Amino acid sequence: MRKGVFITIEGGEGAGKSTLIEQLSNKMLQRGKMVTTTREPGGIPIAEQIRTVILDREHIAMDARTEALLYAAARRQHLVEKVAPALEQGQIVICDRFVDSSLAYQGYARGLGMDEVWAINRFAIQDLMPDLTIYMDVSPEVGLKRISQASEREINRLDLEKHSFHERVREGYLQLLKQNPDRIVRIDAEQSPELVLNDVLTAIDSRLAGFLATDV
Ligand code: TYD
Repeated sequence: MRKGVFITIEGGEGAGKSTLIEQLSNKMLQRGKMVTTTREPGGIPIAEQIRTVILDREHIAMDARTEALLYAAARRQHLVEKVAPALEQGQIVICDRFVDSSLAYQGYARGLGMDEVWAINRFAIQDLMPDLTIYMDVSPEVGLKRISQASEREINRLDLEKHSFHERVREGYLQLLKQNPDRIVRIDAEQSPELVLNDVLTAIDSRLAGFLATDV
């Protein structure tokens, strides 16, 4: 039995994942929980270096399968070095993106096929799946407008994809939601950050059997 709780936050560009993670982590700390927040691709030096290679705007020659393998490699190292030890210590691990990103972006939107991408990821994660996945659902129109207005955020290689790519990413996520209703919960990310946080806390409380009480 795992001692900690593994929560992943998913969504398209500009869904407000970073804001949510900061607020959610503060709420949990207030409740006396031990929290580790982290992100993919990255979170530890080896995976941050892989991230630099994947997201470099100069790397237009990158093949779709190479991209998928690099994400899976970064995921593996991050899981072994950071996520698994934190779970072993009983921490709540909140991770910005995980395997569903690869399934939605590489598997569905890039067209590699969700089954094929799942196969390399199964090898990488060895059954260590999240207890709960929050899918922050936002239309590409709203999401892309948000990131173009947030000047401090650097535009990366995937942000530069065509609008239709971001539409497909959303379709991919909605498909995953349908296939995994016990693990993934959809949150309307076009709402205000306060309402988003409220919905997320409600989902955590009901799905993780009161692990996090919402009444503080
Ligand atoms: P990042 O700047 O972290 O974007 P965001 O704030 O939207 O999370 O860049 C990560 C990019 O990598 C993002 O466009 C999604 C993409 N990605 C994949 O395509 N597959 C993956 O498995 C992961 C983890 C991320």
